[in-house]
Amino acid sequence: MRAAEIQSELTNVLVTEEQILAKLDEIAAQVAVDYEGKDLLLVGVLKGAVMVMADFSRALPVSAPMDWMAVSSYGAGTKSSGVVQIRKDLDTDLHDKHVLIVEDIIDSGLTLSWLLENFASRGAASIEVFALLRKPEAAKVVVDCKYVGFDIPNDFVVGYGLDYAENYRNLRDVAVLAPHVYS
Ligand code: XMP
Ligand code: MG
Repeated sequence: MRAAEIQSELTNVLVTEEQILAKLDEIAAQVAVDYEGKDLLLVGVLKGAVMVMADFSRALPVSAPMDWMAVSSYGAGTKSSGVVQIRKDLDTDLHDKHVLIVEDIIDSGLTLSWLLENFASRGAASIEVFALLRKPEAAKVVVDCKYVGFDIPNDFVVGYGLDYAENYRNLRDVAVLAPHVYS
């Protein structure tokens, strides 16, 4: 995709890279305090959380192992269906681990609530969620999310790991996708 084409498909930047990095520093400092002396495991949800994980883990003043889970939530276009399938499971046994799930966005909340239920049976010492973005108006189920970067309006967003049809993940900022692209 060419730069001009990308520009015509975005309406406005919602969160800049600079704002994201500042927020990650803030949350990483809090996480370091909250998990002091604990066996912390970061679990990223592929592929959207790749950028958040890369920057968040480097903002942490401590070293914590990382694992990845790939799930697909079936549904057409820009909506999650809540029917989740595991594409790649964790490599790590969660027993006695303090798990922090690192997510790009909580939209309907269906994917995360499924994931939390799935993890609950694996014997973790604790399970918490860090989501960079959250759309309060889109919530279909309540997800207990301990760390949230930014609450945003109910628009479809791309960039900083978030995609539409696998494009735009590499944009540095989070921007609103123009509705004409998907409607
Ligand atoms: P739910 O609705 O289950 O969201 O909370 C599940 C996953 O869908 C993706 N998602 C988005 N991706 N822009 C995107 O590029 C969005 O606005 C958006 N909303 C949801 C995301 O991977 C999330 O984890
Ligand atoms: Mg995701």
